[in-house]
Amino acid sequence: MCGIVGYIGDKNASPILVEGLKKLEYRGYDSAGVAVYDDNKINIRKKKGRLAILDEEVQKNPVKGSMGIGHTRWATHGAPSDINSHPHCNGDCSIAIVHNGIIENYMELKEELIEKGYRFLSETDTEVIAHLIDYLYDTDILSAVQAAVKKLKGSFALGVMSTKDPGKIIAIRKDSPLVVGLGERENFIASDIPAILNHTRRVYLLDDNEIAILTQDNVTVLDKYGEEVGKQVFKVDWDAADAEKGGYDYFMHKEIHEQPKALRDTMTSRISRENDDIVLDQIKLGKEELEEINKVYIVACGTAYHAGLVGKFAIEKYARIPVETEIASEFRYRNPIIDEKTLLIVLSQSGETADTLAAMRQVKEHGGRVMAITNVIGSTISREADDVMYTWAGPEIAVASTKAYTTQLVCVYMIALHLGLLKETITKDYADKIREALLRAPEDIEYVLKQEEKIKEFAYKNFKVEDVFFLGRGLDNYVAMEGSLKMKEISYIHSEAYPAGELKHGTIALVVDGTIIIALCTQEELFEKMMSNIKEVKARGAYILAFAQEKNKAIEKEADEVFYIKDTEDDIASIATVVYLQILAYYLSVARGCDVDKPRNLAKSVTVE
Ligand code: F6R
Repeated sequence: MCGIVGYIGDKNASPILVEGLKKLEYRGYDSAGVAVYDDNKINIRKKKGRLAILDEEVQKNPVKGSMGIGHTRWATHGAPSDINSHPHCNGDCSIAIVHNGIIENYMELKEELIEKGYRFLSETDTEVIAHLIDYLYDTDILSAVQAAVKKLKGSFALGVMSTKDPGKIIAIRKDSPLVVGLGERENFIASDIPAILNHTRRVYLLDDNEIAILTQDNVTVLDKYGEEVGKQVFKVDWDAADAEKGGYDYFMHKEIHEQPKALRDTMTSRISRENDDIVLDQIKLGKEELEEINKVYIVACGTAYHAGLVGKFAIEKYARIPVETEIASEFRYRNPIIDEKTLLIVLSQSGETADTLAAMRQVKEHGGRVMAITNVIGSTISREADDVMYTWAGPEIAVASTKAYTTQLVCVYMIALHLGLLKETITKDYADKIREALLRAPEDIEYVLKQEEKIKEFAYKNFKVEDVFFLGRGLDNYVAMEGSLKMKEISYIHSEAYPAGELKHGTIALVVDGTIIIALCTQEELFEKMMSNIKEVKARGAYILAFAQEKNKAIEKEADEVFYIKDTEDDIASIATVVYLQILAYYLSVARGCDVDKPRNLAKSVTVE
């Protein structure tokens, strides 16, 4: 979380910084700021609130200069306020820094620095770094930063500049993402590529503990021993327009509609109707290695965790290997049993989520093998995993994940089929049937998208509701969890997802006259059971909005309103069904006047634990 940018060149820095921050606002939006070097002085503008407030401030009180750093914040230490906003400075503002991450030993360092006479203005951990660099400054800014980071515990991506050693920006990362953009007589730093894509497509992806020294004409990268690293230039092959709203009011709306294409991109070249093989490009796990594996964990956070639950279902069903799906922040602290026979599958859109990354490193340390399903090419998770499968969904900017989730579902199905075929636990005919259904999934989503107006109507009629329950059985239970998370995070409506059979063990006490129940009934095998559960809540006065396959018209007898997905294999039904729930959450959020793309208290990429 938090986004950082930096520019050094011959243009006016502040518009470039603000424009870059706009592309990073999804990472945090509590406050924002820029620091620009001019005439041996660092001028700072920073403001609590959305970036638009900073933009206005910079228009009113411009800062001139062609070298600067900027930051958009997701508060961790210290409430959102002008003073806690980045950039932070040392006492005479000869050193300015921006930081993404958390310094775990900042209290200890702060006390030491206070004893030495340093005065602190903010409550942040970041300000400690500015004073620490000042304290350790001897001859040049690079050595001071190198000395300072040796004392830091925690995670950081830093951009630093100083009037004492002008004409350079120092950038370093440990456990927080950072890229360097290479231009013509100008160079950049950024937490993520979209921030600099209007200026360059050539980037260095910094690895942990690498430090970059940027001047207008040159970029040098050193490792933690101070040795120069010969970095490979990474050429970005997607367009800046992919990260724009393209006529939609919100990124989330655009990304919901991009799903048919995203799914096709995920599957093309991996599965087809003509070719029997399932080609999983960078997955090198072969039959022999697979035979060695006796334990599979799937670990992820949030929406990606929900895709992981589907992954467990699919791998257990097709490959008959026991799988445990766990939330990364729990997995990493519970001393799980890991050895060289363990396969860990991590799912992460950003490829930077701190807990997922930590879980993956833990498994690698104990000799296990790691397979990553991620969307962001060159992300830390993609670089550290043994096998990588990209979801190819394109940039996902809205905080609420949509196309990343459905493409993750497709990936876990392709992996499960691949493993099942390798282990010969499914027949080719069976695999073909599921593959056919997967290939039809983009059309199934197109069908759902055509019902958008009707879902919108429901949302506008019911947007004042305060509690909603989602019920489902089997795979529908996982879709229910995802639908409920979407609703909570962007519309702030309290909702809970329950396995339908579990409701009567307590929660049904909350069902009263008019309670909205979203009943997911897409699983043919469990359809009758769901009908009974619907009857139970109806008898308590609930209003039922149901989702089912077209062939199950019997649902109309019990539900108050029904939305259908096209008939498909039960296993694949979740992919289209969840799109209804994404649209529902979206319109509830719009109707309630929420900021759909930037829900309160959230950030897209959670790089702190
Ligand atoms: C919810 C959402 C989050 C993410 C979670 C993991 O809509 O987007 O729950 O799924 O923060 O993020 P990644 O997938 O980047 O590891």
